[in-house]
Amino acid sequence: PRVGIVVVAAGSGERLGAGAPKAFVGIDDHSILNHALRGVFRGPVAQVVVVAPAERAGDALTEALAVADRTDAAAPLPSGRRRDLVHVVAGAATRQGSVAAGLGALWAGIEVVLVHDAARALTPPEVFERVVAAVDETGAGVVPVLPVVDTLKRVAGSDVVEAVDRAPLAAAQTPQGFPRDVLDAAYRAAAAEFTDDTALVAAAGGRITTVPGHASAFKITTPADLERARSLVQDAGA
Ligand code: C5P
Repeated sequence: PRVGIVVVAAGSGERLGAGAPKAFVGIDDHSILNHALRGVFRGPVAQVVVVAPAERAGDALTEALAVADRTDAAAPLPSGRRRDLVHVVAGAATRQGSVAAGLGALWAGIEVVLVHDAARALTPPEVFERVVAAVDETGAGVVPVLPVVDTLKRVAGSDVVEAVDRAPLAAAQTPQGFPRDVLDAAYRAAAAEFTDDTALVAAAGGRITTVPGHASAFKITTPADLERARSLVQDAGA
């Protein structure tokens, strides 16, 4: 394939407080990682690199192979098996370090790279397709975004300093996509920690454009987010 998808799943999940690395917490019978990979495998045919906590790398591989086989049973690849496209590498102390570890495992022929948070477990396959299409069309970095719906305030401690106009703001999601050479060069140049990959590429001088995100691509961070994911999965199964 010409597309590579790095799925970062090496976070500790402290804010979720579930007592396990976040990607291995169950939504229903299946984990956050399992659900995330279902969306990934139903998207564009791609090399898939899962970045997992070192001590859970074996579990991550088992999970990824199971989802690959299941997806193949429903929609077989024209050539070969999906499980041959799956790799697992150990993560790092920061998200940026984990992404860098994933980039190191991409095959030589990969031209377009998507970086995706496993914690956005219910991201539909269409978002992956949309991001790849936009990278191909623009040659820029691509971030899926949603309009900001809340009213925003700039605060200092508990005091409101001013209202913030939300019209020019957007909420960033993943998968974020890039021409491979652009992302590799930006990672080599990165001299600070960035909160997402488009910020890192922008700091290196890269152009970034947006595509519509999806409400289901929210990041599971708190127990309330996990409840939301559970009801969405339950409703979909009902
Ligand atoms: O913590 P947060 O949910 O913002 O992390 C976003 C994504 O980055 C998650 O999918 C998490 O597993 C991943 N991550 C990682 N390595 C880290 C920290 C976060 O792979 N050291």
